[in-house]
Amino acid sequence: MAQAEFVVVANRLPVDRVDGPDGEPAWRRSPGGLVTALEPVMREAHGAWVGWPGQADLEVEPFEFEGTDLVPVMLTADDVELYYEGFSNDTIWPLYHDVIAAPRYRRVWWDAYVRVNRRFAEAAAAAAAHEATVWVQDYQLQLVPQMLREARPDLTIGYFHHIPFPAYGLYSQLPWRRQVLEGLLGADVIGFQRVADAGNFARAVRRQLRYETRASGIRVPQSDGTSRTALAKAFPISIDAQSYADLAARPDIQARASEIRESLGNPRRILLGVDRLDYTKGIRHRLKAYGELVEDGRISVEEVTLVQVASPSRERVEAYVQLRDEIELMVTRINGDYDTLGHSAIRYLHQGYPREEMVALYLAADVMLVTALRDGMNLVAKEYAATRIDNRGTLVLSEFAGAADELGTSLRVNPHDIDALKETIMRAIEMTPAEQGRRMRAMRRKVLEGDVAAWSKSFLSALDATRENS
Ligand code: G6P
Repeated sequence: MAQAEFVVVANRLPVDRVDGPDGEPAWRRSPGGLVTALEPVMREAHGAWVGWPGQADLEVEPFEFEGTDLVPVMLTADDVELYYEGFSNDTIWPLYHDVIAAPRYRRVWWDAYVRVNRRFAEAAAAAAAHEATVWVQDYQLQLVPQMLREARPDLTIGYFHHIPFPAYGLYSQLPWRRQVLEGLLGADVIGFQRVADAGNFARAVRRQLRYETRASGIRVPQSDGTSRTALAKAFPISIDAQSYADLAARPDIQARASEIRESLGNPRRILLGVDRLDYTKGIRHRLKAYGELVEDGRISVEEVTLVQVASPSRERVEAYVQLRDEIELMVTRINGDYDTLGHSAIRYLHQGYPREEMVALYLAADVMLVTALRDGMNLVAKEYAATRIDNRGTLVLSEFAGAADELGTSLRVNPHDIDALKETIMRAIEMTPAEQGRRMRAMRRKVLEGDVAAWSKSFLSALDATRENS
C-alpha cells in the first residue's frame, strides 16, 4: 500500500464489520458524519485512515474501501479492557465531562493507554508520506500528536478534540496531567468544540507547563532551545446537513413519520429524546421532568407521549451498566403509574436505528429534548434542525451542550433545574406554529451553512497555514 499524503487517525475505523450475503464477514461504512465529511478530502489526497476495527483480537490486513486505504490497528482483549473501557471511558470520559460520574485513576490503565497510543502513532507514521498531513481524532489518542512528531518531524499534525475540555480545577485531578498536555501539544493545530474548551486547555498549559499563550497561540519550547507555536482554537463540528434535508423530503420517509404518529395513538404532541445511553446525556433529568408534568396533571399521557431512543453504548463499563438499570427502573415506574390501556407515557427503545428511521422520528416529533449535563457538541440537536424542512418543531437544548453556542433560537435550559426544565417543556408544547417557524428557520440556516464540510475545510486550512508559516 502506497504512503498517503493525508492520514486520519481515530480510535475506530470508518467501517463496521457485518455479515455479508454469503455469511462471510464484510465491511459497511459507519453512519458517522466525520466519515462523510472526510470522504472527498480522502479521495482527492489518496488518504489513509488508521483505526481499530471494533473487535478485540481481530487481525486484519490493510485494505482499500471506497477510495480510502484503511489501516487496522489490532487491540487485544486486554487493550480493550484497559485502554478503551478503562482509561478512555472510565478515566478521561467522566473527568472531561465535569465528573458527572467519578473518574477512576488506575496506573495499569494509564500504562495501557501509553502503549496503545504508541501503536496508533507507529501505524500512522508508517502510513504517512514525506511531509504528509496527519489528523488525529479525539480523547482516546491524546498522546499520538507528540509521539508522531518525535518519530516524524516532517509531518504537519492536527488534533481535534470531540468532547469537552474541563476547567483547570477538575483537569488537575489527573495524575498524568502533564503528559497529556505535552501529548496534545505535539500537534500544530489543536481543535476544540467551544471557545471555552480552548480556553480551559490554554489555562491548563499555562498552569501546568508554564508555557506562554497569546490569543490562540501557545509557544512550545523545543529541545534545541528554539520554540514553535501551536494553535489551540474552537472549530465547532457539524453534520452533513443537506443529506438530512434530502431524506426529510422523501415521500416514503414522510409517510413513515405519519405511521409513527399513528402507531403512538396520534397524540397531540410527541416529545423525543435520542441519545447514546450515557450518563452525560441527562436522560434521567428528562424523565423526571416529564414524569412530574404528568403527575402534576399538566399533561396527560393520551395527549403527550415521550419517545426515548437510548442506543446501547460501552456496555461493559460499570457506570453504564448502572445507568441502564436506573433509567429502566424510572421508565417502568412512570409507565406503571400512568399508562392507560391505549397509551403509553414513555416509549423506551434501547436500540440503534438507521438514519432513515431517525429522520422519520425527527419529523414525527413536535419537541426534541436535548438535556445533556455536559456534551462536546451534540449532533442530534443539529440533525433535528436540518431535518425540519417544514420549519416546524421545537428544540429544547441544554446550555451545557456545545450546540447551544450556535443554536441561539432553540429553547435553552439548565437541565439540573427540574422546574425550569418542566416550564421549558410546557413552553415548547404550547409554542405557536409561527414562533416555531421563526426559531427553526434560523437554526436550519445555521446548520446548513456551517455543515461538516465547512468544519473540516476550516480546520484543514488553519493546519495548512501553519505549514506555510514554518
Ligand atoms: C463520542 C466520542 C467518539 C466516540 C463516540 C462513540 O461521540 O467523541 O470518539 O467514537 O462517542 O463511542 P464509542 O466508545 O462507541 O466509540
